[in-house]
Amino acid sequence: MRGWPSHGGRPEPVLHRFGLTAGSGMLDFSANLNPLGPPPWLAERLGGCLAELSVYPDPDYTAAREAIARAEGLTPGQVRLTNGGAEAIFLAAALLAKRGACRAVVVQPTFCEYERACRHYGIAVQHLELEGEHFELDESRALDAMGEADAVLLCRPNNPTGTLVACDMIERMLVVGQQYGTTLVVDEAFIDFVTPDERLTPLLTRYDNLLLLRSMTKLYAIPGLRLGYLLGDGPSVEQIARLQLPWSVNAVAAALVVPLLEDQDYLQRTQSWLDIERPWLQGELETQGLRVVPSCTNFLLLQDGGARPMSALLEHMARCGVLARHTYNFIGLDGAWLRVAVRSRQENTQLLDAIARWRTS
Ligand SMILES: Cc1ncc(COP(=O)(O)O)c(C=O)c1O
Repeated sequence: MRGWPSHGGRPEPVLHRFGLTAGSGMLDFSANLNPLGPPPWLAERLGGCLAELSVYPDPDYTAAREAIARAEGLTPGQVRLTNGGAEAIFLAAALLAKRGACRAVVVQPTFCEYERACRHYGIAVQHLELEGEHFELDESRALDAMGEADAVLLCRPNNPTGTLVACDMIERMLVVGQQYGTTLVVDEAFIDFVTPDERLTPLLTRYDNLLLLRSMTKLYAIPGLRLGYLLGDGPSVEQIARLQLPWSVNAVAAALVVPLLEDQDYLQRTQSWLDIERPWLQGELETQGLRVVPSCTNFLLLQDGGARPMSALLEHMARCGVLARHTYNFIGLDGAWLRVAVRSRQENTQLLDAIARWRTS
């Protein structure tokens, strides 16, 4: 784990390990961003936002929250705009701590920031491992966790497995949680890449022990802008608002929420790309003999059954100009898998070519 970056999208430290530098041709499959890139109108719009810099943002981000609430079928009081999904994670942990949570269960392997956020606020963390070939959450163990911990945190679809805990299991977890006063925190940073009927938002009208964390980074390919939001019941969101640093979202990012949500064409183009490209890439990887976890989102977790370690495949791919995501900091994967983003057909073909060369090397 030492020396490996804890997030994707940072090629330099990984390439450095292999004595390589990030040339202009390096394709980064380690960050799960929409390969369409930011919506084409964004660059011009950013220029137009410069006037926003000379005034403080609305501290409540009213227009952005109203637009999100409309899109999600909620009230603005159930929405808090955040500085990326990352701030939403830390605000959720801050709320748990404020409400006296001492013990959280994090479903693993998953994104490392849930554990970091809980520990930051003094909440002890235990792990509940996904099981089997397809990394499934065992329902009875999940219900036990909801009965025993103060909070359960999970990612849906899960980074890095791409798997999704079913809505009805989530609801059964919430029912147990209500009995025991346990909060379920679900990070849905990648939910925009999943079919809309898998959204948990309707549950927010029935359960006050559910928090949903969202990121606008992945769908709109804007990691540098820092936009996300948190959804919950009114009182929780109000308490979170009191815990949040003032103006934590900059005015330019906040001003872009409404036009981003209005761009239906971009959503459709994204869906059309992913509907074709994910099954195609998964099929081609399997044809090359790799084990691929069936994913419902825009990345794939894969493993080679051969004797050579996955770090050797990672290095080989980097030497071929494609960078995959190592899995050293995913608990339970410990480097034995690689994660790759689904990108455009041409880019995915380059990835497959690199793997084909590995097979014959
Ligand atoms: C599952 C998950 N949640 C949240 C985040 C943070 O997203 P953001 O860039 O919006 O802070 C990431 C980033 O990689 C992620 O993978």
